[in-house]
Amino acid sequence: MRRSWVSIFTVYAPMLGVPVLLFLYMITNLLHLSIVSRIFLSLIMLGLIVFGLMSFRDVFIDREKPYNYIHLNEREATAAAYQEKGKDDGSRSVEFEVKRFNPATKMLESELFRTRVHRFSTVLDALLDIKEKEDNTLAIRYSCRMGICGSCAMVVNGKPVLACETNVLQNSGEGRIVVSPMLGHPLLKDLVTDFDDFFERHRSIKPHLVRNDIEEKYSAQKEYPQSREELSKYLPFSYCIMCGLCVDACPVVNTNPSFIGPQALAQVQRYYADSRDQLGDRRLEMVDRLEDVWDCEFAGACSLVCPKGVDPAFAIQLLKAEIVRKDIAGK
Ligand code: SF4
Ligand code: FES
Repeated sequence: MRRSWVSIFTVYAPMLGVPVLLFLYMITNLLHLSIVSRIFLSLIMLGLIVFGLMSFRDVFIDREKPYNYIHLNEREATAAAYQEKGKDDGSRSVEFEVKRFNPATKMLESELFRTRVHRFSTVLDALLDIKEKEDNTLAIRYSCRMGICGSCAMVVNGKPVLACETNVLQNSGEGRIVVSPMLGHPLLKDLVTDFDDFFERHRSIKPHLVRNDIEEKYSAQKEYPQSREELSKYLPFSYCIMCGLCVDACPVVNTNPSFIGPQALAQVQRYYADSRDQLGDRRLEMVDRLEDVWDCEFAGACSLVCPKGVDPAFAIQLLKAEIVRKDIAGK
């Protein structure tokens, strides 16, 4: 059973409190300390004892079982209690068809699982539940569980999404949901894809501010204030969490692997539009090639699936327009 802070202070503290106070009284008497020193010493010792209890709790009590395990069992207990009373607790049993990539056969193999979800369960919650109770070999990548790290990107009912931001009941229609890995990236195992090439493309566009004075960052003499207008030029594009969903959705990436892809191009615009960056036109030259901006067919699928509203399709059109404008101005 999960023990709480309440049990720490109602059971352990009174059990230890009386002997500890007697011990403190004896020590301070033996040392013939002044009343101020006694209070000071007592506070320090009490602090150490509380700290010790907290460490004890962290190491030996809370870690007996992972939090998720306890959480899931509580959820099941609640569902069972409601069902016993003939009430609806809002939870539902949902069938998951998981298309798992088998690296040995290099094929996607469908497997069916059934799990109980409540109305706030996400696809990631349900997959972790399946992994815990039915098949712990199921490979999933995730980290933050809150749409920040971009690790849990996958395809749910044919749409590239973040599993931790996709509600199961809203996407399971007749009680069934289909989950598969993103096919726009090389597959590793089950739902996990390889991001090496994706990160390499991101790195290739110099995704950082470039200043002419390279020593400046070690001895900056001033701040670089920006107006609201300057900020708004690049802010939307800076929200990219590198989840790779736009790349998976892009029809051009899927037919022409040498196309650099919407994520990297959106980041070119992000740094080109930043008033602090001094790489200037060289950023445009970097992507003014057939396999870069000019390969984009403006399908817009990247912007439709982006969970952060980055709008890579718009960023690419801004780059194209800027390249053409510079070209005309230069002639
Ligand atoms: S642009 Fe959007 S969809 Fe593409 S990697 Fe960044 S956050 Fe993900
Ligand atoms: S787990 Fe971090 S975005 Fe889903």
